[in-house]
Amino acid sequence: MSKIKSLIKNLRPMGQCAVITGASSGLGMEFARQLAAQGIFLVLTGRNEKALAALAEEIGVSDCVVIPADLSKVRECIDFYGKAKKYKPDILINNAGFGLYGSFTAASLSKELELIDVNIKAMHVLFKLFLRDFVKQDRGYILNVGSIAGFMPGPLMAAYYSSKAYVIRQTQAVYTELRRIKSNVNVSVLCPGPVDTDFNRRAGITGFFKGITAKQCVSCALSEMRKKKLTITPTLKITAIAVMSRFSPVKLTSYCAYLVQKGKQRIEE
Ligand SMILES: NC(=O)c1ccc[n+]([C@@H]2O[C@H](COP(=O)([O-])OP(=O)(O)OC[C@H]3O[C@@H](n4cnc5c(N)ncnc54)[C@H](OP(=O)(O)O)[C@@H]3O)[C@@H](O)[C@H]2O)c1
Repeated sequence: MSKIKSLIKNLRPMGQCAVITGASSGLGMEFARQLAAQGIFLVLTGRNEKALAALAEEIGVSDCVVIPADLSKVRECIDFYGKAKKYKPDILINNAGFGLYGSFTAASLSKELELIDVNIKAMHVLFKLFLRDFVKQDRGYILNVGSIAGFMPGPLMAAYYSSKAYVIRQTQAVYTELRRIKSNVNVSVLCPGPVDTDFNRRAGITGFFKGITAKQCVSCALSEMRKKKLTITPTLKITAIAVMSRFSPVKLTSYCAYLVQKGKQRIEE
């Protein structure tokens, strides 16, 4: 009887299934809304169970499943993968991440290590585990969420910028590996500039530039992902910055990034 129950629990409607990390807020929540509107079954994760439950209620509890996890712990990443794969996903939105403000000598080491755990390690673990399944089934999309920050050094936010460089390079390398084996699986990396979400508040800072909406960013990301674009920059301005950063002297780019970060104000929680 319990076997039948667990079989029923793991059944999902026919069609596509997307796993979304960081679904409890900001971009992840918007990915959930837009993919649900396309009739895609969702596996949602994050730590904030209340926010995830409210999102599931909004989307429809039969159209998604919530599996809470703290992705800063590798064990929880692997357990989450084990539970999520039962739904046979064919899309992974590898989105969970956060920023940290402060000079390298001042920033908290434990917070930086947590950032590396979420932005790099969890991204890496889930990317690899889901990709292995997608390659076996020879279909699927993985969208890793990087940032324009990954194209340059980021004084006063060094760990965050460096973590996003990892996301970009890892995705670009795997993209080529997949093309060489003629796989139908596609990987993309989304590199937004500022987006209006909880990102700045969590990083303890105010924004410097006005952000685009999560809706605008996600609708561009999903449409470019379907076109199998490798590196996705959601606005012309951000595309221009990405191109310029490739050709400018690194000390100049780093100084410009410093000025932007210096212009931000700290906010107390
Ligand atoms: N907003 C921007 O300006 C911007 C620009 C470029 C790139 N990005 C990237 O976009 C992604 C989404 O950020 P956002 O802007 O939507 O910010 P957000 O509103 O703060 O959302 C961050 C998400 O990451 C999840 N997360 C953080 N730590 C986690 C952990 N230990 N375990 C599980 N989930 C965790 C959070 O879930 P819980 O709190 O429930 O755990 C939350 O759902 C991030 O990777 C960020 O670096 C954002």
